[in-house]
Formats: sequence, structure tokens, C-alpha cells
Amino acid sequence: MALRKIREMGDPILNKVCKEVKAVGEKELQLIDDMFDTMYEANGVGLAAPQVGILKRIVVIDCGDDPICLINPRIVETDGEQTGYEGCLSVPGKTGTVTRPNYVKVEALDEEMNEIIVEGEELLARALIHEVEHLDGHLYVEKVEGGVNGLQDVVYDDEEKE
Ligand code: NI
Repeated sequence: MALRKIREMGDPILNKVCKEVKAVGEKELQLIDDMFDTMYEANGVGLAAPQVGILKRIVVIDCGDDPICLINPRIVETDGEQTGYEGCLSVPGKTGTVTRPNYVKVEALDEEMNEIIVEGEELLARALIHEVEHLDGHLYVEKVEGGVNGLQDVVYDDEEKE
């Protein structure tokens, strides 16, 4: 188990656009393993590579059903709307209200570079869109109702964090 340091808001690496992954080798597999370890250790439900300082289009998500690893993910369909609290491991101790699609469909590659499709509703939809936005240098705080002033302190220990 190897933990990586989670970059926090204000670190310029979180605002950069990540590069497409052309091949998955030892280095990428190690990164993915470390990302899962780091996410679970921090009680998060999602983590994107730039959050550990790596500008590659890789995200990991686990909303409690199955661990999901997405390489070069693209959102191809969205539907509906949900409004709720959202958080981010790069913005520790904070939460804010964000409106997102209630359904999201993503095309991506798995660790073996096979094409996969992942569909999610509710929390998984929120996590999918939140993580894909990280890869383009965006943080959820940009979408919080009330802007940065709309951020609140987390009051529950089990707050879901992406
Ligand atoms: Ni995040």
C-alpha cells in the first residue's frame, strides 16, 4: 500500500489540463493502485490523477458498489438533475451545494485499454462528472451555489468526498 500526497486547492497543478494516456505500463498500474489506496485512506469516493500531482487522464471511483478505474474518460450523455452537497479531497473540510445531472454515461478505457461504458445515477453520476472535470483543471467549487462564499464546513464525519 502506497499513499500519495493529495494536492489541495491553490496548488496550480489542479488547474491544468491532463494528457491522454497512450499506453498503460507498470508506472500507470502503480499509480492506479496508489490512487485507490489514497482515496480509501482519505474516505473519499473518487480521486483524479492530478489530485496526486500526475497530469494523466486517469480517475478512480468507488461509491460502495465496485471500484472503478477510468482511463481517458469522456462524458457522452447526461440526463436529469440533482442538487445536493458535494465535496472534494482537494478541498478538505468543506462542502457546498452543486446541481449536477442525475444520470451520466461515460466512455473510457480500462487498465487493459479495453473500451468500457460506465453509467451512473445519483452519487455515481455526481462522482463521474466531478472526476472528469478534474482532468480539465476544474474544481467543484466553481459550481457551488453562492460561489466560494457558498462553501460550508463539513459537519458530518461520513461526508462523501470526491
Ligand atoms: Ni475532487
